[in-house]
Amino acid sequence: METDSMKATAVASSNIAFIKYWGKRDTALILPMNASISMTLDDGVSTTTTVEFSGSLAQDELVLNYAPTGGTKLERVSRFLDILRQERGISTRAKVVSINTFPTGSGIASSASGFAALAVAASGALSLSKTPEELSALARQGSGSACRSVIGGFSEWDDTYAVQLQPETHWPELRDVILLVSAEEKTISSRQGMEATVETSALYKERIKNLPIRLGTVRDAIADKDFSTLSTSIMEDSDELHACIADTTPSVRYLTEDSLRIIEAVKRLNSDGEMVAAYTFDAGPNAHIITKEEHLPKILEMIGRLGGFPHLVSGLGEGARLIDDHLF
Ligand code: PMV
Repeated sequence: METDSMKATAVASSNIAFIKYWGKRDTALILPMNASISMTLDDGVSTTTTVEFSGSLAQDELVLNYAPTGGTKLERVSRFLDILRQERGISTRAKVVSINTFPTGSGIASSASGFAALAVAASGALSLSKTPEELSALARQGSGSACRSVIGGFSEWDDTYAVQLQPETHWPELRDVILLVSAEEKTISSRQGMEATVETSALYKERIKNLPIRLGTVRDAIADKDFSTLSTSIMEDSDELHACIADTTPSVRYLTEDSLRIIEAVKRLNSDGEMVAAYTFDAGPNAHIITKEEHLPKILEMIGRLGGFPHLVSGLGEGARLIDDHLF
């Protein structure tokens, strides 16, 4: 039946970048100034999305975490679906229902998992058979970092799509402990922030020039499961990114006092000679602590010493994929 073939559901996880994407060389197409490398998280930090195209709809509809949603969020989804409608040569509207496994307002950005799930579900609903590379390139047009969430395990996004560096089975002990420092929406979006950094920061120009070396180091450290080298590069990259963001005119700051306390606590954990964990921060104050399973008790103890933060622990996860259970 035509209606059955116009509906599909996909699940996609969030990801955390070890080498951050910051800056576009093409803002319309969302092509990055630099390559980025990330770890795709597990289904505990994921989005499930059902898309149904239907001739009976006058407009696109969006339900996010059980709440009918309009405004800019719906516009962004509609513009994204337009890419596929154009490809199929149709104007049929769609209903999109999406739920996150992590709580709304938890401070975990949902655009990466959200657009990865939407790309796979909408393509599936329209029976457009696409390779993982094509799905990654499509997700990128919704949100840059989403192209990495289409791919499981460790992925690298260099230009139009992300590719897998290593599968999720490569390093099963690796963990990301996500600490909720603040649930407030950031006042400066990553889009605005990166545009301003590209335009005004001199330090950023140095970053772009020097990044190929760190990218090589991280690729090798992942392949060799060299946690110590990987951790050093992860922290360097986060520190450098936030220094460039501070070097932006007018200056921008995403980290709070609590973020800085977490940085110092991780450094103290590592000061006994063994590398226990690495901190990394996106465009917000919430900390991602990359560690190994054996060190989780130390990390939980550290969180306790800091007075406690809501947190969740994720391992490596699979890429975005179609599933049989629809949300409606
Ligand atoms: O995809 P966006 O526009 O939300 O940008 C994400 C930027 C960072 O999260 C800060 C870095 C990254 O590579 O994920």
